[in-house]
Amino acid sequence: MSKSVSSVAVAKRDGFSSNFGVLAATLGSAVGLGNIWKFPYLTGVNGGAGFLLVYVLATLLVGLPVMIAEIMLGRQAKADTVGTFKKLAPNTSWWIIGGLGVLSAFLIMAFYSEVAAWVLAYVFKSIRGSILSSDPARTSAAFTQLIQDPIQSLLWQWAVLALIGGILSMGVSKGIEAVTKKLMPLLFILLVVVGVRSMLLPGASAGLRFLFQPDFSKITAGVALTAMGLAFFKLSIGMGTMLTYGSYFRDDQNIPATALRVMTADLFVSMLAGIAIFPAVFAFGFTPGAGPALLFITIPAVFANMPFGHLFMVVFFVLTAIAATGAMLSLLEVPVSVLSERLGWSRTKATVWTLLALVAVGALAALSNSVIADFKLFGMTLFDLFDALTSKVLMPLGGIMMCLFTGWVWKQRRFSDALSNGGTLTNRRWLSALFLVTRWVSPLLILVVMLKGLGVF
Ligand code: PHE
Repeated sequence: MSKSVSSVAVAKRDGFSSNFGVLAATLGSAVGLGNIWKFPYLTGVNGGAGFLLVYVLATLLVGLPVMIAEIMLGRQAKADTVGTFKKLAPNTSWWIIGGLGVLSAFLIMAFYSEVAAWVLAYVFKSIRGSILSSDPARTSAAFTQLIQDPIQSLLWQWAVLALIGGILSMGVSKGIEAVTKKLMPLLFILLVVVGVRSMLLPGASAGLRFLFQPDFSKITAGVALTAMGLAFFKLSIGMGTMLTYGSYFRDDQNIPATALRVMTADLFVSMLAGIAIFPAVFAFGFTPGAGPALLFITIPAVFANMPFGHLFMVVFFVLTAIAATGAMLSLLEVPVSVLSERLGWSRTKATVWTLLALVAVGALAALSNSVIADFKLFGMTLFDLFDALTSKVLMPLGGIMMCLFTGWVWKQRRFSDALSNGGTLTNRRWLSALFLVTRWVSPLLILVVMLKGLGVF
């Protein structure tokens, strides 16, 4: 291995002995733009509390079991996502799960890096103070201007990709992970501060009602699929990221407990983001259904109404950019580990080619609000298509297959052995229940929600 391995790999090679390191890396993958950008905007578009309820249910019934299964398979095989299935089920076609995972990773990176690009642009814009305003018209105009400018959209995305490439090539991802570990708590704190400020705004209670008082009539099959897709996206599952990270897990790591902690912390961050954003949305007269723009137009309004708001806003976008970095490193890890372990490429070569491919595919997402805004497939711009295709089809499909593989090929005895670390953990009784969920409940639930949501029946 070259020195540019990801933090977790480094951790393993150095004999890194703390479970906290693994926890931090896994959490670093889960927490990201999904919490701060996607969760609030989807909750806003899909009617609020009802969506939140389905999302939490999906996280528990589908997200957690899939996450545990994935990490287990990865740790068992200690290989990349294609290699894992070739190893665990030789001479079968199960490795296709890994292939689909690589495809998902690319499509997600394509639009994720563009949203990260907007965040990076906002770091600089907030330094200049040009976007600080509580006038919805002004903050919306500033955002629209950014995303409709093809040159800015591309350049900021390239800056993001170069940044990620730089981190990986300098082999400092361990350093980055260390920094992330220290800065994550700061992000929590800042979200709490913004949340308190937001809740104290006159008229804020309407936002809290929107977020916590479910209107069941708004829960349609389409909404349920969106919520389930968000659960997959949030936990980085159904496409090989958790499997790849699992391959770096230590043998004495308690997988179910780690997954449970990551899931809980991740939900907590999303809730904080919701509490920071929705009260302000209602207080300032923004519309909750503003879509992907929501974060970028409301946050400046909250900060405009706060002492030291200017400074806080810069810090907020810097921390958001850092959170996005941990997630992007884990996304890249999927194709990079497949290319280096399957084709024998050096990690540097694999990283460079992956990033170059992303410059090409990413441009399709970056230009979706400008040059190719009118180019639509299935009624969606390519940005939206990449997002929908991964969250509503590829990741759920990957999730079903991971569950089926675990429940029907890997089977209960090895499942219990692997997850109790050979009987050293006293969790057997839980594991029998978890196995039944993984074998029956999760895959069936994913299938029904997916087909119904896509309008197949
Ligand atoms: N979970 C990350 C987020 O919420 C996104 C992600 C998806 C990362 C899939 C890795 C794999 O921002």
